[in-house]
Amino acid sequence: MLSFAALMIVGVAMVAHAQAPGAFYEDTKTCDPGCNKYGNCNGETGQCDCPFGLAGPTCTEKLFPACHSSHDDGTLPHYGDWYPKNCFCYKQLAAHPYSCPSYLKYDGLGFSPQAPCFYDTLLNSNLLCYRYKGIPENQQLSDSPELTDPNIEWLHVRSFPTWYETPTAAPTTLSTPDGIYRPLKECPDKCSNRGWCQSLGGNHLMEPHHDPEERWCKCHSFFQGKACEISDPIHCYRNCSGVGTCLNGWCHCKPGYWGHGCTRTKAYSSTVGWRPNHAAIKVYVYDLPSIIVHRREFNDQWSYIDLMYNAELEFTEQLLGDWSVRTENPWEAALFYVPTFTYWYTGNIGHPTYIIQHVVHHLQHLAPFFNMTGGRNHIMWATNDRGACKLQMSQLELQHPIKLVHFGQAPRHAYLQKSHMKSTGVGLDMYMGGVGSLLEPLPLPGHRFQGFPEFNAPDLMEEHEICIRPEKDVVAPNVLHNAWVEPPAYSKVWETSFVDGERVVTRKPEDPAQRVITMFFGGYTKPIMAYSQGVRQALNLLFGPSGKYDPAGPNARHDILVTGPLVDAVEVMQRSKFCLAPMGAGWGIRLTEAMVTGCVPVIIQDHIYQPLWDVVPFEEFSLRLSRTDVTDLVEHLDDVTPEQLARLQAGVEKHHRAFMWDTHYGGLAYNFTVTALKRRAISFWSGNYRKRSNRRHHLRSVS
Ligand SMILES: *[C@@H]1O[C@H](CO)[C@@H](O)[C@H](O)[C@H]1NC(C)=O
Ligand SMILES: *[C@@H]1O[C@H](CO)[C@@H](O)[C@H](O)[C@H]1NC(C)=O
Ligand SMILES: *[C@@H]1O[C@H](CO)[C@@H](O)[C@H](O)[C@H]1NC(C)=O
Repeated sequence: MLSFAALMIVGVAMVAHAQAPGAFYEDTKTCDPGCNKYGNCNGETGQCDCPFGLAGPTCTEKLFPACHSSHDDGTLPHYGDWYPKNCFCYKQLAAHPYSCPSYLKYDGLGFSPQAPCFYDTLLNSNLLCYRYKGIPENQQLSDSPELTDPNIEWLHVRSFPTWYETPTAAPTTLSTPDGIYRPLKECPDKCSNRGWCQSLGGNHLMEPHHDPEERWCKCHSFFQGKACEISDPIHCYRNCSGVGTCLNGWCHCKPGYWGHGCTRTKAYSSTVGWRPNHAAIKVYVYDLPSIIVHRREFNDQWSYIDLMYNAELEFTEQLLGDWSVRTENPWEAALFYVPTFTYWYTGNIGHPTYIIQHVVHHLQHLAPFFNMTGGRNHIMWATNDRGACKLQMSQLELQHPIKLVHFGQAPRHAYLQKSHMKSTGVGLDMYMGGVGSLLEPLPLPGHRFQGFPEFNAPDLMEEHEICIRPEKDVVAPNVLHNAWVEPPAYSKVWETSFVDGERVVTRKPEDPAQRVITMFFGGYTKPIMAYSQGVRQALNLLFGPSGKYDPAGPNARHDILVTGPLVDAVEVMQRSKFCLAPMGAGWGIRLTEAMVTGCVPVIIQDHIYQPLWDVVPFEEFSLRLSRTDVTDLVEHLDDVTPEQLARLQAGVEKHHRAFMWDTHYGGLAYNFTVTALKRRAISFWSGNYRKRSNRRHHLRSVS
């Protein structure tokens, strides 16, 4: 009987399995009919998605009413300090539970100089602001009045951690960062409530205003036009798919569409719970509410992001349109992608712990999928210089998700001992600039590599930070500045043709006199050895005055160029056989630059997994040297025969597109990053992710 019952169960299970495609059904919800005027009906949640600062079933509730310049519906809040706001604006912003969330904590090294508030203005302890006398708070506006308006009073305030205010006299004149403040009513159409009025200065298009009598609108967040009436589409994903309007980096979609780039139209439910498809690994993309994360303004303007940190946007842009891996059905997804706009919150030198914590907190409480795997199949970017390094001391649920980084440092052991750090507080000291106390209790490491200057304990600590776990995290290439991938630079080296619709990129025949520089490195160096792990410093010693290859000495190598940053680096790398790729303060940009200029990269980055290390064959196109080889670098390069060089150059030809994001020129960085992510799903299913108990043990062994 027992075996019969077991058979029955197997039979039932097989039937259920055969029906798996029907296990999911379309279940798109509707919203308040008024939702679409200012918001998007999210068919998955049945709630109205609003731009940052608006809320409610019709997006007519204002979260920070005093940050608006009008009582009209649909206006957006502005909260920077480039021109004064209503004091209640700052107070309301600080009071919102998601502005400086109380659950944000960081337990590890890497003291963040910023308090955990997501809006920089809240950290300004001396804000100038005004308020209308005798008017209730819910009627107060940031509508840029006359400075001498008798109905207002002026204050200096601090809004975080506790409110503090002192009255001050009305200013007689006020400067903005580049001009003079003028009341909003003096400008055309009150700048459509999307800008502020000033004289003098210029806008982001670099159009200067010289006449002090002229009044003009300086627009917020890539609105344009005389009255900021034009909304610029370039800061929204996929230009809102042609079915929406871009407002402050957020797509306002036509009815029936929602989500990033208005790319969502369907939602699903499941009768079998979560059942990821193992035959076609799919990625679900979250649309987090704008109050959780959004492309926030930097002060009162867009943050101008250095393109080389832009991989999150490039990847997301391409993933949103790639229905061969994307799915709208989370119940069949193996991986969950969480766009967080990380760089908007961390900049290049900050660390992403707080923003990841904020997002994880939201996912844990609202969505069922995060908890099912403890977040292990959730994907988030950390593109800042040192990527995810500081997460190693954070809560496990922040460590579990798959991090997409550029900096793949993964030494076996951390150097600094956590228990030690706690008892002496040296971690904080170090990041406050005082390293004295750190040098005492830890052994002085001193001399480490032949030909290198001395390393001290903080240097060693940085190079021993465990930033990724290679079986789980993905190292992706950085974005290159246009000058490297656009004609004429790219087309100088590469010939592009199409064979049967397939792009074929080959190396143009080169004049033998073209690549005459044996090795090139042009870049900064710094006295601290943590910078580039000392490689740039050792190189400068080797090739500098009284070094072994002193250009004025007997061993001078005029075919090797080691120098500071060059403006014409593209052109020089196109004339070089080998290009050195050390790290910088974190990841280095030289590997990708070498690949697009057809120069064979020489990678010297100990303990650092390179971008796409697991999905492209580095041995076919690069040299890898250890730091102990730096003193013999020239000998190692001279050992390479012309045939070997030709083989490596052919490897660069074959694989360079993996390091380019721009699809106009055949970039495949997106495709390879997706492949690497799919391998993480397999790694996850194979149990290769370290288990919690091991992780504990691991932490104990270094603490
Ligand atoms: C963006 O989409 C709008 C239509 O929604 C279209 O008018 C505009 O030309 C597009 N812009 C770009 C840069 O593609
Ligand atoms: C997910 O786990 C967290 C932490 O254990 C818990 O606080 C939260 O309530 C869980 N969420 C759900 C939806 O069960
Ligand atoms: C790369 O991915 C895109 C999807 O965004 C796809 O259209 C393209 O064919 C892929 N390229 C290759 C070479 O696989």
